[in-house]
Amino acid sequence: MEREYFTHKGVLFSSPDYSPEELSYVENEFQVRDDDVFNVTYPKSGTNWMLEILSLIRCDGDPGWVRSVLSWDRAPWVEHYLGLEAALKYPSPRLLCSHLPVQLFPKSLKCSKAKIIYTLRCPKDVLVSLYHFSKVLRIFKTPESLDSFLEDFLSGNIVYGSWFDHVTGWLGLKGSKNFFSITYEELQQDPQGSVRRICHFLGKELSEEQVASVVENASFQSMKVNKMSNYSQMSDQLLDHQQGALLRKGICGDWRNHLSEGQSRRFNAIYQERMQGLSMTFPWD
Ligand code: PPS
Repeated sequence: MEREYFTHKGVLFSSPDYSPEELSYVENEFQVRDDDVFNVTYPKSGTNWMLEILSLIRCDGDPGWVRSVLSWDRAPWVEHYLGLEAALKYPSPRLLCSHLPVQLFPKSLKCSKAKIIYTLRCPKDVLVSLYHFSKVLRIFKTPESLDSFLEDFLSGNIVYGSWFDHVTGWLGLKGSKNFFSITYEELQQDPQGSVRRICHFLGKELSEEQVASVVENASFQSMKVNKMSNYSQMSDQLLDHQQGALLRKGICGDWRNHLSEGQSRRFNAIYQERMQGLSMTFPWD
Protein backbone atom coordinates (compact mmCIF):
# COMPACT_ATOMS: atom_id res chain seq x y z
CA MET A 1 0.00 0.00 0.00
CA GLU A 2 1.44 3.39 -1.03
CA ARG A 3 1.41 5.76 1.96
CA GLU A 4 -0.30 9.16 1.97
CA TYR A 5 1.71 12.05 3.38
CA PHE A 6 0.31 14.79 5.62
CA THR A 7 1.88 17.87 7.15
CA HIS A 8 1.77 18.31 10.91
CA LYS A 9 3.00 21.68 12.17
CA GLY A 10 5.09 22.10 9.03
CA VAL A 11 6.65 18.61 9.17
CA LEU A 12 5.82 15.77 6.78
CA PHE A 13 4.57 12.41 8.15
CA SER A 14 2.99 9.37 6.55
CA SER A 15 -0.41 7.91 7.19
CA PRO A 16 -1.59 5.57 8.73
CA ASP A 17 1.67 4.98 10.64
CA TYR A 18 1.41 8.44 12.18
CA SER A 19 -1.60 10.62 12.85
CA PRO A 20 -2.04 14.28 13.83
CA GLU A 21 -3.96 13.18 16.94
CA GLU A 22 -1.19 10.89 18.17
CA LEU A 23 1.50 13.42 17.34
CA SER A 24 -0.40 16.05 19.35
CA TYR A 25 -0.87 13.59 22.20
CA VAL A 26 2.86 12.82 22.26
CA GLU A 27 3.75 16.50 22.22
CA ASN A 28 1.24 17.75 24.77
CA GLU A 29 0.21 14.89 27.02
CA PHE A 30 2.85 12.18 26.99
CA GLN A 31 4.50 12.13 30.43
CA VAL A 32 8.26 11.87 30.32
CA ARG A 33 9.61 10.14 33.44
CA ASP A 34 12.75 11.23 35.30
CA ASP A 35 14.44 7.90 34.67
CA ASP A 36 13.62 7.71 30.93
CA VAL A 37 16.52 7.47 28.50
CA PHE A 38 15.71 8.70 24.99
CA ASN A 39 17.63 7.67 21.89
CA VAL A 40 16.93 10.62 19.56
CA THR A 41 18.04 10.91 15.94
CA TYR A 42 17.14 12.14 12.51
CA PRO A 43 16.39 8.97 10.45
CA LYS A 44 19.39 6.98 9.19
CA SER A 45 21.82 8.58 11.62
CA GLY A 46 22.66 5.48 13.67
CA THR A 47 19.45 5.03 15.67
CA ASN A 48 19.55 1.25 15.74
CA TRP A 49 23.25 1.14 16.49
CA MET A 50 22.76 3.43 19.47
CA LEU A 51 19.69 1.43 20.52
CA GLU A 52 21.87 -1.69 20.58
CA ILE A 53 24.63 0.06 22.53
CA LEU A 54 22.15 1.39 25.11
CA SER A 55 20.48 -2.02 25.43
CA LEU A 56 23.84 -3.66 26.06
CA ILE A 57 24.98 -0.99 28.52
CA ARG A 58 21.75 -1.54 30.43
CA CYS A 59 22.70 -5.24 30.75
CA ASP A 60 26.36 -4.61 31.66
CA GLY A 61 27.47 -5.92 28.27
CA ASP A 62 25.52 -9.19 28.53
CA PRO A 63 24.02 -9.92 25.06
CA GLY A 64 21.10 -11.96 26.44
CA TRP A 65 18.54 -9.14 26.08
CA VAL A 66 19.54 -8.03 22.56
CA ARG A 67 19.47 -11.64 21.38
CA SER A 68 16.04 -12.43 22.80
CA VAL A 69 13.90 -9.27 22.55
CA LEU A 70 13.08 -7.33 19.38
CA SER A 71 14.75 -3.94 19.17
CA TRP A 72 11.47 -2.03 18.91
CA ASP A 73 10.23 -3.75 22.09
CA ARG A 74 13.43 -2.90 23.94
CA ALA A 75 13.12 0.76 22.93
CA PRO A 76 9.74 1.70 21.42
CA TRP A 77 9.33 4.65 19.03
CA VAL A 78 7.12 7.07 20.94
CA GLU A 79 5.60 8.84 17.93
CA HIS A 80 4.58 5.66 16.10
CA TYR A 81 1.17 4.36 17.19
CA LEU A 82 2.53 0.91 18.10
CA GLY A 83 5.52 2.40 19.88
CA LEU A 84 3.33 4.78 21.83
CA GLU A 85 1.19 1.90 23.09
CA ALA A 86 4.34 0.05 24.17
CA ALA A 87 5.88 3.15 25.77
CA LEU A 88 2.78 3.73 27.89
CA LYS A 89 2.95 0.14 29.20
CA TYR A 90 6.75 0.07 29.64
CA PRO A 91 7.78 -0.27 33.30
CA SER A 92 10.43 2.19 34.50
CA PRO A 93 13.19 2.76 33.70
CA ARG A 94 12.23 3.11 30.04
CA LEU A 95 14.49 3.09 27.01
CA LEU A 96 12.71 4.96 24.22
CA CYS A 97 13.45 6.09 20.66
CA SER A 98 12.31 9.08 18.68
CA HIS A 99 13.01 10.79 15.37
CA LEU A 100 10.88 13.79 16.32
CA PRO A 101 12.25 17.28 15.79
CA VAL A 102 12.70 19.10 19.09
CA GLN A 103 9.62 21.32 18.67
CA LEU A 104 7.34 18.26 18.43
CA PHE A 105 8.97 16.34 21.30
CA PRO A 106 6.94 15.80 24.50
CA LYS A 107 6.73 19.13 26.33
CA SER A 108 6.99 17.34 29.68
CA LEU A 109 10.70 16.78 28.96
CA LYS A 110 11.35 20.34 30.15
CA CYS A 111 10.43 19.63 33.76
CA SER A 112 11.95 16.15 33.94
CA LYS A 113 15.41 14.72 34.54
CA ALA A 114 15.11 12.32 31.59
CA LYS A 115 18.28 11.82 29.59
CA ILE A 116 18.54 12.49 25.87
CA ILE A 117 21.22 10.91 23.70
CA TYR A 118 21.28 12.60 20.30
CA THR A 119 23.22 10.87 17.52
CA LEU A 120 23.94 12.69 14.29
CA ARG A 121 25.69 11.66 11.10
CA CYS A 122 27.25 13.22 8.01
CA PRO A 123 24.14 14.47 6.20
CA LYS A 124 25.35 13.30 2.80
CA ASP A 125 25.57 9.76 4.20
CA VAL A 126 22.14 10.23 5.78
CA LEU A 127 20.80 11.27 2.38
CA VAL A 128 22.25 8.20 0.64
CA SER A 129 21.15 5.80 3.38
CA LEU A 130 17.65 7.31 3.38
CA TYR A 131 17.47 7.20 -0.41
CA HIS A 132 18.08 3.45 -0.34
CA PHE A 133 15.86 2.81 2.66
CA SER A 134 12.99 4.74 1.09
CA LYS A 135 12.72 1.89 -1.40
CA VAL A 136 12.62 -0.63 1.45
CA LEU A 137 10.50 0.87 4.24
CA ARG A 138 6.95 1.31 3.10
CA ILE A 139 6.41 4.32 5.41
CA PHE A 140 8.32 6.31 2.79
CA LYS A 141 7.38 6.95 -0.81
CA THR A 142 9.85 5.49 -3.31
CA PRO A 143 12.01 8.33 -4.63
CA GLU A 144 11.77 9.06 -8.34
CA SER A 145 15.50 9.73 -8.69
CA LEU A 146 18.50 10.66 -6.56
CA ASP A 147 18.34 14.16 -8.05
CA SER A 148 14.74 14.74 -6.99
CA PHE A 149 15.39 13.13 -3.61
CA LEU A 150 18.36 15.44 -3.07
CA GLU A 151 16.11 18.45 -3.62
CA ASP A 152 13.48 17.07 -1.26
CA PHE A 153 16.16 16.40 1.36
CA LEU A 154 17.62 19.89 1.07
CA SER A 155 14.22 21.56 1.32
CA GLY A 156 12.98 19.28 4.13
CA ASN A 157 10.19 17.93 1.96
CA ILE A 158 10.54 14.43 3.45
CA VAL A 159 9.16 12.47 6.38
CA TYR A 160 10.42 14.00 9.67
CA GLY A 161 11.24 17.24 7.87
CA SER A 162 14.52 19.01 7.38
CA TRP A 163 17.80 17.49 8.59
CA PHE A 164 19.07 21.05 9.13
CA ASP A 165 16.12 22.02 11.34
CA HIS A 166 16.38 18.74 13.26
CA VAL A 167 20.08 19.08 14.00
CA THR A 168 20.12 22.80 14.77
CA GLY A 169 16.98 22.39 16.89
CA TRP A 170 18.30 19.54 19.04
CA LEU A 171 21.84 20.89 19.31
CA GLY A 172 20.28 23.97 20.87
CA LEU A 173 20.12 21.80 24.02
CA LYS A 174 23.89 21.28 24.03
CA GLY A 175 25.29 22.26 27.42
CA SER A 176 22.18 21.07 29.28
CA LYS A 177 23.01 18.54 31.99
CA ASN A 178 20.70 15.85 30.64
CA PHE A 179 21.64 16.17 26.98
CA PHE A 180 24.47 14.26 25.30
CA SER A 181 25.32 14.33 21.60
CA ILE A 182 27.63 12.11 19.61
CA THR A 183 28.26 11.44 15.94
CA TYR A 184 28.04 8.21 13.97
CA GLU A 185 31.60 9.00 12.84
CA GLU A 186 32.87 9.13 16.46
CA LEU A 187 31.21 5.78 17.11
CA GLN A 188 33.07 4.37 14.11
CA GLN A 189 36.43 5.96 14.94
CA ASP A 190 36.51 5.18 18.64
CA PRO A 191 33.82 2.70 19.68
CA GLN A 192 35.35 1.92 23.08
CA GLY A 193 35.86 5.58 23.98
CA SER A 194 32.35 6.42 22.74
CA VAL A 195 30.77 3.68 24.87
CA ARG A 196 32.73 4.89 27.91
CA ARG A 197 31.50 8.47 27.33
CA ILE A 198 27.90 7.25 27.01
CA CYS A 199 28.29 5.23 30.23
CA HIS A 200 29.66 8.28 32.00
CA PHE A 201 26.66 10.35 30.87
CA LEU A 202 24.29 7.62 32.08
CA GLY A 203 26.11 7.31 35.39
CA LYS A 204 26.89 3.67 34.67
CA GLU A 205 30.24 2.06 35.41
CA LEU A 206 31.33 -0.82 33.21
CA SER A 207 34.59 -2.78 33.32
CA GLU A 208 36.89 -2.89 30.29
CA GLU A 209 35.58 -6.38 29.47
CA GLN A 210 31.98 -5.20 29.66
CA VAL A 211 32.72 -2.21 27.40
CA ALA A 212 34.42 -4.57 24.93
CA SER A 213 31.34 -6.80 24.98
CA VAL A 214 29.07 -3.81 24.26
CA VAL A 215 31.23 -2.85 21.28
CA GLU A 216 31.44 -6.42 19.97
CA ASN A 217 27.74 -7.21 20.30
CA ALA A 218 26.67 -3.87 18.81
CA SER A 219 29.03 -4.16 15.84
CA PHE A 220 27.65 -4.09 12.30
CA GLN A 221 28.53 -7.78 11.86
CA SER A 222 26.81 -8.84 15.11
CA MET A 223 23.70 -6.79 14.40
CA LYS A 224 23.50 -7.97 10.80
CA VAL A 225 23.00 -11.58 11.96
CA ASN A 226 20.90 -10.81 15.03
CA LYS A 227 17.24 -11.35 14.09
CA MET A 228 16.19 -9.24 17.05
CA SER A 229 18.05 -6.21 15.68
CA ASN A 230 18.26 -6.49 11.88
CA TYR A 231 14.56 -5.84 11.07
CA SER A 232 14.23 -9.28 9.43
CA GLN A 233 11.24 -9.86 11.75
CA MET A 234 9.46 -6.70 10.61
CA SER A 235 6.22 -7.41 8.77
CA ASP A 236 6.13 -7.36 4.96
CA GLN A 237 3.52 -4.64 5.23
CA LEU A 238 6.14 -2.33 6.70
CA LEU A 239 9.33 -3.50 5.03
CA ASP A 240 9.97 -4.81 1.52
CA HIS A 241 12.56 -7.44 2.39
CA GLN A 242 13.26 -8.11 -1.33
CA GLN A 243 14.45 -4.52 -1.84
CA GLY A 244 17.10 -4.30 0.85
CA ALA A 245 17.85 -4.31 4.56
CA LEU A 246 18.33 -1.94 7.49
CA LEU A 247 22.00 -2.90 7.83
CA ARG A 248 23.12 -1.94 4.34
CA LYS A 249 26.80 -0.92 4.40
CA GLY A 250 27.43 0.69 7.77
CA ILE A 251 30.35 2.86 6.67
CA CYS A 252 31.33 6.54 6.65
CA GLY A 253 31.58 8.39 3.34
CA ASP A 254 29.45 6.12 1.15
CA TRP A 255 28.00 9.31 -0.35
CA ARG A 256 31.17 9.51 -2.50
CA ASN A 257 29.95 6.39 -4.33
CA HIS A 258 26.61 7.98 -5.13
CA LEU A 259 26.65 11.78 -5.41
CA SER A 260 28.04 13.45 -8.53
CA GLU A 261 30.37 16.41 -8.15
CA GLY A 262 27.51 18.72 -9.08
CA GLN A 263 25.17 17.17 -6.52
CA SER A 264 27.86 17.42 -3.85
CA ARG A 265 28.50 21.11 -4.65
CA ARG A 266 24.78 21.84 -4.52
CA PHE A 267 24.61 20.10 -1.13
CA ASN A 268 27.62 22.05 0.19
CA ALA A 269 26.09 25.40 -0.78
CA ILE A 270 22.88 24.73 1.18
CA TYR A 271 24.81 23.14 4.05
CA GLN A 272 26.97 26.21 4.50
CA GLU A 273 23.97 28.51 4.35
CA ARG A 274 21.94 26.48 6.88
CA MET A 275 24.72 25.58 9.33
CA GLN A 276 26.69 28.80 9.56
CA GLY A 277 24.79 30.06 12.62
CA LEU A 278 25.64 26.96 14.66
CA SER A 279 29.37 27.73 15.12
CA MET A 280 30.20 24.05 15.65
CA THR A 281 32.45 21.73 13.67
CA PHE A 282 31.71 18.14 12.85
CA PRO A 283 33.90 15.19 11.78
CA TRP A 284 32.62 15.52 8.19
CA ASP A 285 33.27 19.29 7.85
S1 PPS B 1 16.40 4.25 10.98
O1 PPS B 1 15.62 3.43 10.02
O2 PPS B 1 16.20 5.68 10.70
O3 PPS B 1 16.11 3.94 12.37
O4 PPS B 1 17.90 3.89 10.63
P1 PPS B 1 19.18 4.13 11.53
O5 PPS B 1 19.33 2.98 12.45
O6 PPS B 1 19.17 5.48 12.12
O7 PPS B 1 20.34 4.13 10.46
C1 PPS B 1 20.61 3.01 9.63
C2 PPS B 1 22.05 3.16 9.17
O8 PPS B 1 22.93 2.83 10.25
C3 PPS B 1 23.75 1.75 9.85
N1 PPS B 1 24.03 0.89 11.01
C4 PPS B 1 25.26 0.67 11.49
N2 PPS B 1 26.46 1.15 11.10
C5 PPS B 1 27.54 0.73 11.80
N3 PPS B 1 27.48 -0.14 12.82
C6 PPS B 1 26.29 -0.65 13.24
N4 PPS B 1 26.25 -1.50 14.26
C7 PPS B 1 25.11 -0.23 12.56
N5 PPS B 1 23.79 -0.52 12.70
C8 PPS B 1 23.16 0.17 11.74
C9 PPS B 1 22.95 1.03 8.78
O9 PPS B 1 23.76 0.19 8.02
C10 PPS B 1 22.40 2.23 8.02
O10 PPS B 1 23.40 2.91 7.27
P2 PPS B 1 23.73 2.61 5.74
O11 PPS B 1 24.67 3.70 5.32
O12 PPS B 1 22.45 2.64 4.99
O13 PPS B 1 24.39 1.26 5.72
